[in-house]
Amino acid sequence: MPDIEIENIDIILKNINSGIKGKKLYPVGHPAIAASMTKAYQTLSELLKTNNKIFVGMAKDVMVFEEIPLMDAEKNLGELIHQINQREIEGIIFEKGLIQKEFFSFIDVLSEENALKGKELQNMLASKNILHITVKSISKRNILEVYNDAVNIVKETMNEIRMGKVPQSKEIIRLTDEMTELVLTNRDAMMGLTMIKNYDNYLFNHSVNVSILSIALAQSMNYPKADIHTVGIGGMLHDVGKTGVAEDIIRKPAGLSGEEWETVKQHPVLGSKITEKMDGLARLVGRIVYEHHIRYDHSGYPHTESTLHPLGMIVTIADAYDALTTLRVYQRPYHPVEAVKVMNNLSGKHFDPNTLKTFMSMLGFYPIGTVVRLSTNNIGIVTKLNPANNLSPTVKIVFGEDGKQMDKPYEIDLSKASGTPAIVASIDPLTKGFDIGQFFEEEAKTLTL
Ligand SMILES: [Fe+2]
Ligand SMILES: [Fe+2]
Repeated sequence: MPDIEIENIDIILKNINSGIKGKKLYPVGHPAIAASMTKAYQTLSELLKTNNKIFVGMAKDVMVFEEIPLMDAEKNLGELIHQINQREIEGIIFEKGLIQKEFFSFIDVLSEENALKGKELQNMLASKNILHITVKSISKRNILEVYNDAVNIVKETMNEIRMGKVPQSKEIIRLTDEMTELVLTNRDAMMGLTMIKNYDNYLFNHSVNVSILSIALAQSMNYPKADIHTVGIGGMLHDVGKTGVAEDIIRKPAGLSGEEWETVKQHPVLGSKITEKMDGLARLVGRIVYEHHIRYDHSGYPHTESTLHPLGMIVTIADAYDALTTLRVYQRPYHPVEAVKVMNNLSGKHFDPNTLKTFMSMLGFYPIGTVVRLSTNNIGIVTKLNPANNLSPTVKIVFGEDGKQMDKPYEIDLSKASGTPAIVASIDPLTKGFDIGQFFEEEAKTLTL
């Protein structure tokens, strides 16, 4: 791209800015506006002789002209920035071939009240024959994309460790922030995603699931934001030490030899050493990783006499729940209601009773992802909890009364309508050959950030 002089950027943007402002004050064709708009157009079309496209927009809250950041834009270009933000676009692309009429009509559109947003704005431009200006819509990610990004970053982290590097932490931190926010705003959908258990990539999905469950539990226990973030990172990284254990041992059905078992037991210590070397992580992360297999009664491994950290106890519980609900070579998965029962029997032994109590009330009587049979004989999946009524969550009906899979599943809130069916029992999804993980993947695709 040929160099662009700052002076020209100034002329273009300041005049566009005053053009938009002026349109609101003066009638069309007023000389005060015409002059500044003509000046902006001339300078812009001069640049478009040597550039095919010119982008003006926002990049992380800073206005940019092409790639050039304009630091004091807020002072002089307030109106333009306001238009870009309120119209939910990233910016404007001017293209080679732009004619004056298009440019003027565009300023007209931007000055109108009732601001059209994103794609609607783009359609409006096309309908007005403004063909050389495009607005770039903000690309909205869906929740599944965030989840998959998190799975990939765990995978990359473990690869870096295998190659002998100290892994980068920037992306882990960013994605944990994003997930923390999503657990706050879309908790039910995020809990649904933890039902994705990838048999082949067990460890990566498991790490993300443990992170989501830990974040949700820490939120339910009203921990401050910094602790919630720390526990989320701890969840993401709790098993990174398994990079030091041979793959065939990790995947082994059962009956590890004494020696093999000793290697597996190394992973919390190895993992905490790795996380302690990583940049920008709270010191506590290493301790959480170190303690995640130490039980409340101090059995488990590694052996320690010292008090366990409350955040570590959160990850221990999240880890156990995700492991129990996952199909393993040596274990059929427990469905959520069963898993909770198993864990409750270990309260005060493996798990801290208080933390476990909050975990269980957070999951509800029928946790999200439970397959239930209703009094109508329909079969559905619990998709949303009703905190006020534990026994009557919202269920998506996937099998009809005749036992056949529905073409169009629909949701019913069992707590609401009178005469709604009740849950008769929770059932094992395997008996219906139903893929719960895939079900929640599809659900999450429809939810954008
Ligand atoms: Fe572990
Ligand atoms: Fe684990």
